[in-house]
Amino acid sequence: MTTPRHTYGRGRLAAAFGGLAAATLAVAIAVPAAAAGSTLQAAASESGRYFGTAIAASRLGDGTYTSIANREFNMITAENEMKMDATEPSRGQFSYSSGDRIVNWARQNGKQVRGHALAWHSQQPGWMQNLSGTDLRNAMLNHVTQVASYYKGKIYAWDVVNEAFADGSSGGRRDSNLQRTGNDWIEAAFRAARAADPNAKLCYNDYNTDNWSHAKTQGVYNMVRDFKSRGVPIDCVGFQAHFNSGNPVPSNYDVTLRNFAALGVDVQITELDIEGSGSSQAQQYQGVVQACLSVARCTGITVWGVRDSDSWRASGTPLLFDGSGNKKAAYTSVLNQLNAGGTTNPNPNPTTPVPTPTTTTPPPTGGGSCTATYSEGQKWGDRFNGTVTIRANGNISGWTSTVTVRSPQKIIATWSGSPSWDSSGNVMTMRPSGSGALSSGQTTSFGFTVQHNGTWTWPSVTCAAS
Ligand code: G3I
Repeated sequence: MTTPRHTYGRGRLAAAFGGLAAATLAVAIAVPAAAAGSTLQAAASESGRYFGTAIAASRLGDGTYTSIANREFNMITAENEMKMDATEPSRGQFSYSSGDRIVNWARQNGKQVRGHALAWHSQQPGWMQNLSGTDLRNAMLNHVTQVASYYKGKIYAWDVVNEAFADGSSGGRRDSNLQRTGNDWIEAAFRAARAADPNAKLCYNDYNTDNWSHAKTQGVYNMVRDFKSRGVPIDCVGFQAHFNSGNPVPSNYDVTLRNFAALGVDVQITELDIEGSGSSQAQQYQGVVQACLSVARCTGITVWGVRDSDSWRASGTPLLFDGSGNKKAAYTSVLNQLNAGGTTNPNPNPTTPVPTPTTTTPPPTGGGSCTATYSEGQKWGDRFNGTVTIRANGNISGWTSTVTVRSPQKIIATWSGSPSWDSSGNVMTMRPSGSGALSSGQTTSFGFTVQHNGTWTWPSVTCAAS
């Protein structure tokens, strides 16, 4: 660890944030095992992180698949549908229908989207594979511009460039048609992506970059350091994290993540899967989660598929749910590790937030009524968590709660409820995931993350009973 760690109880943590609101905290804070989340997304949200999965559009009609995905994950990556061959099958003719199915499903269910991938040597459409030189460079840049512009405002982070470094001991770039257009193709792609969607985080994404002592890891590290020193717009580095017995989780994974983060970028685990089964697989998953949680700027983890049978390497049973959708030992170890907590972003809001919690008690409808109370959660430089507690005054058979945020704020994740939005995107209506019946005095709660975009007004909340 390069930063000292202090442990706070949750009450003391809130007090510490309040007291130090005008200052920048110079420490990483260990969040204790407190409010145990019962799903991966809820547990990850406790430390301000997301937990995601890759989704295939062709499986969105499978109810078991979508119900697990909706319940457990709050970050969605299109497994293939936003790649170059899918989005620009003919030169200059863009096709977004499959990507849109995934993006729409994610947004309708209150989830964020990681964009994957704008520029890559693989899964290029046939017409692009045959290009070279300036023609290819321009085609690539046009692709980045068009696709990032089309999805502008809907993407949390883009994998701008994927897998551009060579395997083996060279630490250099992979030979590819894109690389042959000139060594600056990667930074050119990042600049084009920034111009097209200035609010998306821009990531470099690769595999076999997990072990700090590997040449490929060092090669990517040197590129990111160079980019940061020259002002090339890069915000994050994605570690795909495809592991198996020949490529196990390295014991220095936390060192790798921490060293990259120290360059001033977020780090994200973007395509996690670990072949195996039982307790051995569970322990390796736990190690990956632990490594991420130990690094304040490790902002989230995405597994590469829902059930083993959905995996690109299904025979290796590398995921958290078996083919029938049952939770595996690996699921339990991940959930427990997320609930055990870790460091959270050490740079919460450096200016003073003005809390305006709102409680609304509308008149009783039918039998009882309900009260919604907002309470603040964790805060980071760019976002904060909130919880709404619903209390039944008299028996109620259901409830609906609204959460209104002030533009340019945006709710970017939710948990423990079923959200929908009005056309402005500022008013979220939350309904219970289950029946919603509460007896008098009983409470339930749901949560959400607000990207504040510089506005620190607390949301206003209402509740209506049925
Ligand atoms: O949809 C067609 C189907 O119509 C056809 O009959 C069938 C026969 O080949 O192919 C189907 O397409 C396959 C596609 O997955 C959808 O299932 C492609 O052949 C197959 O190549 C493709 O594999 C994808 C692979 O990327 C391609 O490189 C995997 O699903 C996807 O999980 C994998 O994801 C990559 C990440 O993007 C980058 N990191 C590595 C990761 C794993 O390889």
